[in-house]
Amino acid sequence: MGQILAEGLVRAGWDPGELILAARRKERAIEAERLTAVTCVLDAAEAAAGREVVVIAVKPKDMAGLLGQVAEVINPDQVVVSLAAGVPLMAIEAALPGVPVVRSMPNTPAAVDEGMTAYCLGGAADEVAGDKAAAVLAAVGETIELSEDLLDAVTAVSGTGPAYIFLLAEALTEAAIREGLPHHAAERLVDQTVRGAGILLQSSEKSAFRLRAEVTSPGGTTAAAMHTLENGGFRALLEDAVRSATQRSQELGRAAVEASSEDR
Ligand SMILES: NC(=O)c1ccc[n+]([C@@H]2O[C@H](COP(=O)([O-])OP(=O)(O)OC[C@H]3O[C@@H](n4cnc5c(N)ncnc54)[C@H](OP(=O)(O)O)[C@@H]3O)[C@@H](O)[C@H]2O)c1
Repeated sequence: MGQILAEGLVRAGWDPGELILAARRKERAIEAERLTAVTCVLDAAEAAAGREVVVIAVKPKDMAGLLGQVAEVINPDQVVVSLAAGVPLMAIEAALPGVPVVRSMPNTPAAVDEGMTAYCLGGAADEVAGDKAAAVLAAVGETIELSEDLLDAVTAVSGTGPAYIFLLAEALTEAAIREGLPHHAAERLVDQTVRGAGILLQSSEKSAFRLRAEVTSPGGTTAAAMHTLENGGFRALLEDAVRSATQRSQELGRAAVEASSEDR
């Protein structure tokens, strides 16, 4: 995700010479430099020192270790933006007293500048800090500021969301092939339908419910398909999936808090 954001920043016109990346493995650093033309160092503290905005994009399990590495060089004039799923502001703020921290949850369509990132501000983060963080995050798509108590649900909806859509596309492609369509045609039909439906949903003033109702004539083909999906528990299953992802995000958050308090 850090790589995606770095590539997006460069695409959005940020000067690679004004950015710096950090990795912990040489191969990763070489790859990151190749893809972004941004210098990638192997010392997170070196990368973080003196930077206006510091983005942390490690896995939640690595957060405590990373914070331990950079805490000494980060000061309250900087803004720290975390992308880590489930890691609460308090776990980061405890390691960086007085530093403005912004917790965010992006998603992978950021790779094509169509990301959706929700973020929340920590106790020391004022509007200016929020704007600086949003300017970075907006390089790869839309942003929305929300309160932290909603971030686990955001993780389950838009953070995990692309996987739901990909699963739907995968299953629809397989179903198309079972109905006799050649593989290449099935893929094209599904990919463009997902894209078209997404753009229509976003650009139309009508809700998803309304758009679906409009393509569902009584006794028609869509009605038959919707009946099968609803009878099979499609809606309830999706609700359960979102609930599971929300709970997993909460669990990761608790583990991160425990790891950060063990580290202190
Ligand atoms: N993937 C998504 O869809 C998504 C969406 C929203 C948010 N996120 C969040 O984004 C974060 C990153 O996820 P990801 O999927 O991009 O994980 P990833 O591919 O494993 O990337 C994390 C990178 O951080 C590096 N790293 C770990 N500790 C480090 C340290 N101390 N110094 C320098 N580099 C270090 C890792 O190094 P190694 O290569 O050596 O492991 C790895 O390259 C996670 O917290 C995740 O919750 C991900």
